[in-house]
Amino acid sequence: MPSEKNTDVKHITVPWVAAAPRRGDTLVMVTAYDYPQGRTADAAGVDIILVGDSLAMVVLGHPDTLSVTMEEMIHHCRAVRRGVKRALVVADMPYGSFHLGAHQAVGNAVRFIKESGAEAVKIEGGRPEVVAALSAAEVPVMAHLGLTPQSVHRLGGFKVQGRDREARQSILDAALELEDAGAFSLVLECVPTDLAGEISERLEIPTIGIGAGPACDGQVLVYHDLLGLEERIAPRFVRRYAELGLLSRQGIEAFAADVRTGRFPAAGESYGAPKPVEEVGKLYG
Ligand code: KIV
Repeated sequence: MPSEKNTDVKHITVPWVAAAPRRGDTLVMVTAYDYPQGRTADAAGVDIILVGDSLAMVVLGHPDTLSVTMEEMIHHCRAVRRGVKRALVVADMPYGSFHLGAHQAVGNAVRFIKESGAEAVKIEGGRPEVVAALSAAEVPVMAHLGLTPQSVHRLGGFKVQGRDREARQSILDAALELEDAGAFSLVLECVPTDLAGEISERLEIPTIGIGAGPACDGQVLVYHDLLGLEERIAPRFVRRYAELGLLSRQGIEAFAADVRTGRFPAAGESYGAPKPVEEVGKLYG
């Protein structure tokens, strides 16, 4: 029976993640975008926390991921970093931050490492030359193939990838090239289960699936999807483990009703006559 938590490790490292398939460990990754989310995911014992560029959609309210900037990603990554002690923190390189080539990619990836405290970056698409340059610059890279949301316009929407022979072959070839170039793991998004299974068997590095079936070496979901905070229609691969959006709304409605009817604040939630300075200090101390 596989264990429910990889609890034997105090701090998850890149080599530990890369060796997961050899140990037979199943990796758990979630996204997070701020300090409390990072702290919560870490306390729950996930292995990897991805500060995804899905930030653009689920936090900033954009229709796709294309507009999020390096500055916004670094800002959120720093906040997540402060909340995480054990999990590996991976920063997602946003659209336009590596598309001009290896030189640009290294410059921006180094910013993530130096300014945000991320321990690795993720890049979308089959760009082995960029992965090789990042690896040479000591930046560990998580690759990402299949449905790569930064290619939404070229792909014509958020659609399952790798369904015909040619597309399957090109995803498999790209996966092998990215591993050769030095990627330490590979996200597979929205590809058929059997293709994800074949790639997982052929690669030594772990595959982490999202909408890629159970044969991957790990699974990832977006924080807001798995906790019911995202209200837009969820893709079929999302399982909601909580309804925090609904609970939050109910909590705020109850607060509003209490304020309007005078039930909040109660005497015990209010202060009496002024106290000596040293006691006020204790209240906040
Ligand atoms: O940005 C993101 O959240 C991602 C995951 C879905 C893998 O890339």
